[in-house]
Amino acid sequence: MTVFETLESEVRSYSRGWPVVFDRAVGSHLYDESGKSYVDFFAGAGALNYGHNNPVLKQAVVDYILRDGVTHALDMQTVAKRDFLESFRDLVLTPRELDYKVMFPGPAGANAVEAALKLARKVTGRVSVVNFTNAFHGMTLGALSVTGNSMKRGGAGVPLVHATPMPYDNYLDGRVPDFLWLERLLADSGSGLNEPAAVIVETVQGEGGINAARVEWLRGLAELCERHGILLIVDDVQMGCGRTGPFFSFEVAGITPDIVCLSKSIGGFGLPLALTLIRPDLDVWEPGEHNGTFRGINPAFVASTEALRAYWTDDTLEKSTLAKGEQVERVLLGIADAHPDADLRAKGRGLARGLRFADGATAGAVCSAAFQRGLLMETSGPDGEVAKVMPPLTITDDELDDGLRILTESVAATR
Ligand SMILES: Cc1ncc(COP(=O)(O)O)c(C=O)c1O
Repeated sequence: MTVFETLESEVRSYSRGWPVVFDRAVGSHLYDESGKSYVDFFAGAGALNYGHNNPVLKQAVVDYILRDGVTHALDMQTVAKRDFLESFRDLVLTPRELDYKVMFPGPAGANAVEAALKLARKVTGRVSVVNFTNAFHGMTLGALSVTGNSMKRGGAGVPLVHATPMPYDNYLDGRVPDFLWLERLLADSGSGLNEPAAVIVETVQGEGGINAARVEWLRGLAELCERHGILLIVDDVQMGCGRTGPFFSFEVAGITPDIVCLSKSIGGFGLPLALTLIRPDLDVWEPGEHNGTFRGINPAFVASTEALRAYWTDDTLEKSTLAKGEQVERVLLGIADAHPDADLRAKGRGLARGLRFADGATAGAVCSAAFQRGLLMETSGPDGEVAKVMPPLTITDDELDDGLRILTESVAATR
């Protein structure tokens, strides 16, 4: 028995599917302690869009630490935070004509979601929030209350209340006009629906099974929110920072959410950082009304700033992500065609892709076969039926081909 088995809690999960001890990581590869390499189609669940130990970001972080730059500062003013805020304004917000205040809610995606929900309730004076089937927003109680997965919800141990789930795009297989149910409930004073403070949505549901909402559905949702005075929160924790191509995943729909949640790859180097972006007139927080010890880990600001400067001064990364995404889609469609009896389906947008299997057992077996062959992939979806293809955006063409070849072989071997 290893120390992981004797000492670490039973709650551990990724270590069960990948039972090796990892030691080094470079770009789109991880290496276990025996030196075996693995192509990474997992990318820290979306936290490593720029790859492992990206040399440009690494140099900036190392230089910062070696010059005794401040590491921990709660929400004090630091040079690193100023550089980050100025870069975020100049490279992300201004070019997209987005006007947001930036809140640092604590280091994880769930912190960004909690802050968004709290603020929406405070601004509107309403308590109820509309969420969507198969949504995933994190593990804290507020975030869990707007999350779909019953196993994860069960872990709360208390009733999860004040959220009303609605069908996500295509949940009813296109048989019902979009938002028919929600529109009706909102319009009918007899519906019993508590007036919602906000709607929270992922443009592509990552943990929910790589479900990509159509742009017209997202536009319809934004219009509905505006018509009814409901705040629109886009949770871009996993799909932001270029995962679907543009910096924000909602750009493709031409919508402007009232509140945006970012985390994971905003830290650039895999360091924890989260932002809640707030329409300026909604920024009604009292000083310290929401706080946390780790709201500004300065090496994360340094890496984040460097990532913005390296990748978001032009559209090179966006174009390459879209091209690589199409390459992944071609291969996934080819795999589906090669196994017509298996009911496979290619899903996703940009470099957030997935292959849906008939059931979770098959998807899990394919991911295990891939692991044996040196490829890391995780499953998602309510029954774990979707194998996720989410490499770093910086993956080289050869690495991508290599991983896709292993995936193709793994599906064939599992049949
Ligand atoms: C869309 C979305 N929101 C929130 C979270 C929660 O982020 P964290 O695990 O950092 O709390 C995740 C994590 O996967 C996510 O995918």
